[in-house]
Amino acid sequence: MTGFPGRPSLNNTHVLPKYTNNSLDVSLRMLHLKLDHTITGMSGWMALLGRPLIHCGRTSSSQLRHASRLVFQSHGAPSQVLKYESFPTPVEPSDPQNVLVRMLMAPIHPADINTIQGAYPITPDLPAVGGGEGLGVVVMAGGAVTHLAPGDWVIPAGNMTGTWTTHTQGPAEAFVKIRKDIPEIAAATLRTNPSTAYRMLKDFVQLGPDDWVIQNGANSAVGQAVIQIAKHWKLHTVNIVRARDNIDALKHQLQNLGADFVLTEEEFRKWTEIREGRLPKPRLALNCVGGSSATELSKCLSNSAVMVTYGGMSLKPVTVATSGLIFKDIAIRGFWLSRWLSEHANGDERIKMFSELAGMCKDGVLTAPVHQTVSLKDFKASVDNTLKGFKGGKFIFDMTKEKQNGA
Ligand SMILES: NC(=O)c1ccc[n+]([C@@H]2O[C@H](COP(=O)([O-])OP(=O)(O)OC[C@H]3O[C@@H](n4cnc5c(N)ncnc54)[C@H](OP(=O)(O)O)[C@@H]3O)[C@@H](O)[C@H]2O)c1
Repeated sequence: MTGFPGRPSLNNTHVLPKYTNNSLDVSLRMLHLKLDHTITGMSGWMALLGRPLIHCGRTSSSQLRHASRLVFQSHGAPSQVLKYESFPTPVEPSDPQNVLVRMLMAPIHPADINTIQGAYPITPDLPAVGGGEGLGVVVMAGGAVTHLAPGDWVIPAGNMTGTWTTHTQGPAEAFVKIRKDIPEIAAATLRTNPSTAYRMLKDFVQLGPDDWVIQNGANSAVGQAVIQIAKHWKLHTVNIVRARDNIDALKHQLQNLGADFVLTEEEFRKWTEIREGRLPKPRLALNCVGGSSATELSKCLSNSAVMVTYGGMSLKPVTVATSGLIFKDIAIRGFWLSRWLSEHANGDERIKMFSELAGMCKDGVLTAPVHQTVSLKDFKASVDNTLKGFKGGKFIFDMTKEKQNGA
């Protein structure tokens, strides 16, 4: 695949910076050319760029720095195929339309792992930089860029653009500006999971205050966002999780986010509140898991309810009771944020959503998912564990502590 909508080609974007020291200029150009060759086809906004700069114009060789990133040359197990590498960075945008960005934080999502495995519908040209979401700060804007300036916070506009890097650059339209008065980690994780929660709560069923929504995988990052956004919109949630030793702590954690009910899969099978009419039947179910967990969700829904599948964490097919389809006309739908973002790349709806979600973060309505931060260099355990169950939170690369060595 040569790219997906909004994913610019890297191949023509490199204009080598001009250095003042001639001999260094030559060797660095060689290095850039070599690297240019090796990264041909990397994700669109990933390119060579300089350390954080706050001015335009010519720069001296002493201003060069090495950045670092996680790159894969072939598909396979992420801890095997990902390589941590340093690369020299140019110091000004290679195109007047471009911005240079220093990445601050970038989460590791299940989809990032699937992409590296070659098991995701988006297949970046290889070699590619891992990661699809993150927060960066603009360090320099090309002369033709009007809506971004040094110091602005940005998140990627496109899908799977390669965020596991300390530095990147791309056309200004490859980035969306985001307010700076929210926690870094909330901003770095806003684009994917809260957006998915927001769209699923909004786009499938016209829900009104006091409607009920039910979800499994409720402790996932998406599930945590569903709970918080639903609460903000005065919706109620029934939340299903897998049993574990410290289940009470997990229940409290989700209740603190605003969950009305948190039940294990086993508890939910015996739960009579909906069945016996003490609670209204949910009009929307959000399925992260599949298999029998999805079947149980589908059984408790109201007439004409919708079950939206967005994840398949059990790796089992979605099964629903035949009676639910015939007698209740339940609709089985799916949602994929990447498709939605591609289809709304130039629309106001996308900006409205990001700004509403960021506003929720500012107001403390929406918080970052439970997480632990890791350094790019120590990537192996976290990429290995991302798809494993009971991991207790999202792994997030923290690039703010990444050392930039002098070149
Ligand atoms: N369609 C879209 O646009 C879209 C957007 C975002 C995310 N997603 C998908 O949504 C899912 C969750 O993403 P996330 O970033 O929120 O993930 P996450 O924070 O890493 O959470 C993973 C969730 O999956 C559960 N889980 C893991 N292994 C499981 C298994 N074998 N059986 C049942 N549940 C299992 C975990 O529960 P335990 O604690 O019990 O292990 C946890 O609730 C993923 O499939 C992801 O690809 C889809």
